[in-house]
Amino acid sequence: MALARNRLDRFISQEMDINKRDVRLILAQGRVTVDDVIAKNIEQIIDTFSHVILDGKTLQNNMPYYVMLNKPIGVVSATKDKEHKTVIDLLKESDLERGGAGGIDLNDLHIVGRLDLNSSGLLLLTNDSRWSERLTQPEKKVAKVYQVVLQNSLYKGHIENGVEGYVEAFANGMYFEYENITTRPAQLKILSEFVAQVTLVEGRYHQIKRMFGRFRNPVVKLHRVSIGNLSLDNNLSVGNFRLLTDVEMDNIDS
Ligand code: URA
Repeated sequence: MALARNRLDRFISQEMDINKRDVRLILAQGRVTVDDVIAKNIEQIIDTFSHVILDGKTLQNNMPYYVMLNKPIGVVSATKDKEHKTVIDLLKESDLERGGAGGIDLNDLHIVGRLDLNSSGLLLLTNDSRWSERLTQPEKKVAKVYQVVLQNSLYKGHIENGVEGYVEAFANGMYFEYENITTRPAQLKILSEFVAQVTLVEGRYHQIKRMFGRFRNPVVKLHRVSIGNLSLDNNLSVGNFRLLTDVEMDNIDS
């Protein structure tokens, strides 16, 4: 859901189908609350999630939702797809199994940073576009951490400077001709001969696969373990989801 912003007087006028002069009077009489505070200023700006009440009657009360999903391989990070099951299909199925997930309108959700079809792990969905923008703008430098299994040994091969060659190339950034950009510094930690941990602050198309592609080292498995301060919940089995707590939602990029 886009975070539509509107002037309070315009919103009430549209909702109640009354003219702005009458709205001004209603506001002056203190009959309207926005998020439990009496609102008298006609110019007050409200958004999709402002809770607006007039004379005890709720005019607007949309809830923001923040969902963590343990994405399986083979499910596409999209809301609709002709060929593959989507993450929204998955939520619908588990929602049915669980007998409802607190009244979330699944059609309002959008994905915060996609994962490829054959990638797995932490995927976030929300109906709050301001929150998703906060997390996806590269300038905000929210770290996304991935565990990567490679086809070829990270210790040997044709790479100049061996392991250090990889680490340096990721840290320096790589030029992607198609987009005409250089990737932002990425952190590469070699965990074992075939396993690495990569930390990105952006999400270019197939970024990690393309970065290892420079070394002719195909990615065999790619699993996102965290976004900012939020790690994938170990209790969430593959394909399952849960709502974030308020603290998780607030602290993710602090
Ligand atoms: N990089 C990739 O190549 N794929 C992903 O799914 C995420 C990051």
